[in-house]
Amino acid sequence: MQFAYAKSSAAIKADALIVPVFEGGNSLNDYAYGDKLKKLFVKGDFEGKSGQRLALPSAGSVAATRVVLLGMGKRNKASAQTFGEAIAGYFRGGHVDGSKLKHVAIALESVVGLKNAGGEALGRWGAEGVLLGSYHFDRLFTRKEKIKHTASKVTLAGGPEAQLKKGVAYGSATAEFTGYARDLVNEPSNRMNPATMAKFAQDMAKKIPGLTCKILKKPEITKLKMGAFLAVNAGSDIPAHLVILEWKGGKAGEKPIAFVGKGLTFDSGGYDIKPAAGMLGMKMDMGGGAATIAALGAIAKLKLKVNAVGVVPCTENLINGSAYHPGSVITSMSGQTIEIGNTDAEGRLILCDALTYTQKQYKPRVIVDMATLTGAQVVALGNKVVGIMSNDDKVAKQLQDSFEAVGENGWRLPLDEFYDKQLDTPIADMKNIGGNPGTITAGLFLQRFINEGQKWAHLDIAGPCMNEAEGWRLWSAKSATGSPVRSLVQFAETYK
Ligand code: BES
Ligand code: MN
Ligand code: ZN
Repeated sequence: MQFAYAKSSAAIKADALIVPVFEGGNSLNDYAYGDKLKKLFVKGDFEGKSGQRLALPSAGSVAATRVVLLGMGKRNKASAQTFGEAIAGYFRGGHVDGSKLKHVAIALESVVGLKNAGGEALGRWGAEGVLLGSYHFDRLFTRKEKIKHTASKVTLAGGPEAQLKKGVAYGSATAEFTGYARDLVNEPSNRMNPATMAKFAQDMAKKIPGLTCKILKKPEITKLKMGAFLAVNAGSDIPAHLVILEWKGGKAGEKPIAFVGKGLTFDSGGYDIKPAAGMLGMKMDMGGGAATIAALGAIAKLKLKVNAVGVVPCTENLINGSAYHPGSVITSMSGQTIEIGNTDAEGRLILCDALTYTQKQYKPRVIVDMATLTGAQVVALGNKVVGIMSNDDKVAKQLQDSFEAVGENGWRLPLDEFYDKQLDTPIADMKNIGGNPGTITAGLFLQRFINEGQKWAHLDIAGPCMNEAEGWRLWSAKSATGSPVRSLVQFAETYK
């Protein structure tokens, strides 16, 4: 996608000019050519309501061939985010057939000056809207007619060029890497397995100066005594891989921010096997790992002035003669023993060793782990709100603010100690299931592997990883969302 800039929207010779219009009043008056536009449609056919769109031949009102009126809702409620999401809706909406609409221009005259909408914010949300709205996972189609075309050039007109450019550079990077997280999750598990996932991280790092990637293979994982990670991997013929990404954009010697993501490329449940309906779709169980890898890529691409690491344990959870059993007792890297109450509670097992490793290796300023960890998260918060759990009020607040800033949602759940007892068992240090509330007892399990004084948060993204519904905000319909990559980048940039 090529982004270009122009002083005013009236004179652009594009295939379509998108004109954001607010509800109420005489909003077309925001544009010098507003009176001419009013004559192109019957009054009442378009009111500027959020989600409303009307495509018209421009009939000489502007230099572009077509005009698309884009409803923005009420002006006093609108922000740069509203603009980005409306743009995403248009690009997702299907009338951007790139074989006809190669060059799309966007009129910014009415949105410049919205609250929180300086040129940089508009550029960022505009680029994210265009790029994430036109995202399609179409690489597995062989028939050309199934592939949707996207415009190849977008001109932003009528805004402050220098600031817009800065914002577009930022938004293009976050959208590009959010797109990679989507790709990784959308890829079926016969193509996206621990080896190919690790290779993706390695290839990505090679293309970004300063980003390093190390892959630990099974012999090294064994040497590290990652007994919990290895127990989950035992039932799979593909060996476990531990992906480690490092970015040193901050002060030398400053401890990094650490992201740790569950890279479970297919979750059958193990011997506590999932019913068919629950198993279908479990290719997405590496969404936390995908977000971790993509966030490190975006942070490095943007050259953020922070030190950051990403650690992703990758394995399948399958069943063969070597698979771990319900009732097995395993020894984690931390030395703590775990009774397997359920082989389907595997995510916390691969994460606990990754958390131990990350603390030992890096002594991070803060660790944020993320995982499609519990079905209970979907019950509690649905697919549009990430569950945040943390041992630190400030970290929880800053995460929630980061989610909000990028138009994602996170809500804190309490890690109350009275639920922690539910993880106790008479035969080992703990068991890997703690009953209800399932999301919180999973978080409490992970907390048992966090050292005294270590700031830490856990994000349960079981619902928000994959959008099963219609398109929403910057998300595509029935596809991976790439959440929470943009929130993580925001957090890395602002964390104090
Ligand atoms: N990967 C699943 C959680 C999940 C469920 C993600 C639905 C996305 C959608 C996880 O490994 C799992 O199976 N969790 C169990 C835990 C239980 C056995 C304690 C669950 O949530 O049922
Ligand atoms: Mn499971
Ligand atoms: Zn799982």
